[in-house]
Amino acid sequence: MKTILPGQTIGIIGGGQLGRMMGLAAKEAGFRIAVLDPTADSPCGQIADIKIIAAYDDEAALQELAKVSDVITYEFENIDYEGLKRLGTIAYVPQGAELVRITQNRMNEKAEIRSSGAPIANYITAYSFEELSEKIGQVGFPCIVKTAFGGYDGKGQVKLDSIEELEEAKSLFEHSTCIAEAFVPFVKEISVIIQRGRNGQSYCLPIAENIHKDHILHESIVPARVDQEIAEKAVEAAEKIANHLDLVGTLAVEMFVLQDGNIVINELAPRPHNSGHYSIEACNVSQFHQHIRAVCGWPLRKPKLWAPSIMVNVLGEHVEPLVKEMHRYPEWSVHLYGKAEAKEKRKMGHVTIMTENLEKTLTEIEASNIWFNK
Ligand SMILES: Nc1ncnc2c1ncn2[C@@H]1O[C@H](COP(=O)(O)OP(=O)(O)O)[C@@H](O)[C@H]1O
Ligand SMILES: [Mg+2]
Repeated sequence: MKTILPGQTIGIIGGGQLGRMMGLAAKEAGFRIAVLDPTADSPCGQIADIKIIAAYDDEAALQELAKVSDVITYEFENIDYEGLKRLGTIAYVPQGAELVRITQNRMNEKAEIRSSGAPIANYITAYSFEELSEKIGQVGFPCIVKTAFGGYDGKGQVKLDSIEELEEAKSLFEHSTCIAEAFVPFVKEISVIIQRGRNGQSYCLPIAENIHKDHILHESIVPARVDQEIAEKAVEAAEKIANHLDLVGTLAVEMFVLQDGNIVINELAPRPHNSGHYSIEACNVSQFHQHIRAVCGWPLRKPKLWAPSIMVNVLGEHVEPLVKEMHRYPEWSVHLYGKAEAKEKRKMGHVTIMTENLEKTLTEIEASNIWFNK
């Protein structure tokens, strides 16, 4: 097993905030960072030692990345799968490309979750609107039709309450094949971030309880307010999936909690996850540092939560009020990702608050006039 040491260079495909935080964790440990991203002033590019500005499938750029990097990882799943696979033949890519192939396509992802034995909602696959019309009865209503490729933050999804609404899903097929899955009447959404080394040793971060607004993650509350039994089921499911996929690196497993205490897996992300940002301050090892350890062949650390925490996302429309109000909240850890343009709904940063009183802090966030009047 290869060990990558400080002074050596970690290549990151993707220059967004996840790459930036991964890169910062790596730099703390003394690594150098190379990043491949199509944009000139990317969040990770700003902190990287070497910037390669090119498309993810640009052959010359991939070769250059391979040349300058001692190990290569990625920060999001919609990179070029074929390019990543080719990189594996000319550079050290300990995570492989298979997990990207699987998680890029909801059809593959669902099939793998099912065969891991973890619980999922009933679903069907459809290559055309006609196929959807034929099969939708197998799922019933309400259901959610999702594009197989390229969806994020609720984009590429349509909820159908009855057969009369079926036409509303038609336009999804312009972009991609689709899946349709039963609507899950969940009482809570949680996520388990599992990280696994090449030797198969794995650890989960404390479970996050996730609150979405307009399909975008708004808040993560840690530890998730669920019974011990539910927490154990969640970890067990994440481990099942990670072992089934022979994970190296990081896998975020989004889950629904049902009224009866059962869980249903929603989706996977093969990378650090927005719901794990709290770990930067609130744990002895952050999801980013642990990820670097995993891909560099270092032994993983057993995560420990220092204090209950709340992470709140800062979207474009929240930046101004946050900057105005933050002098009132000296205990908040404010992270901004260096994105020039504060577009509405764009993830610009996040705030982490460690607290001994979750309910009180939730009220304080609500009263802050940063998130709730917008
Ligand atoms: N089957 C479902 N039943 C109920 N709600 C769902 C279902 N699928 C998705 N959702 C809701 O939509 C959100 C976004 O869906 P998700 O599949 O996670 O896509 P994205 O890639 O946009 O995160 C989920 O976090 C959840 O709130
Ligand atoms: Mg999701």
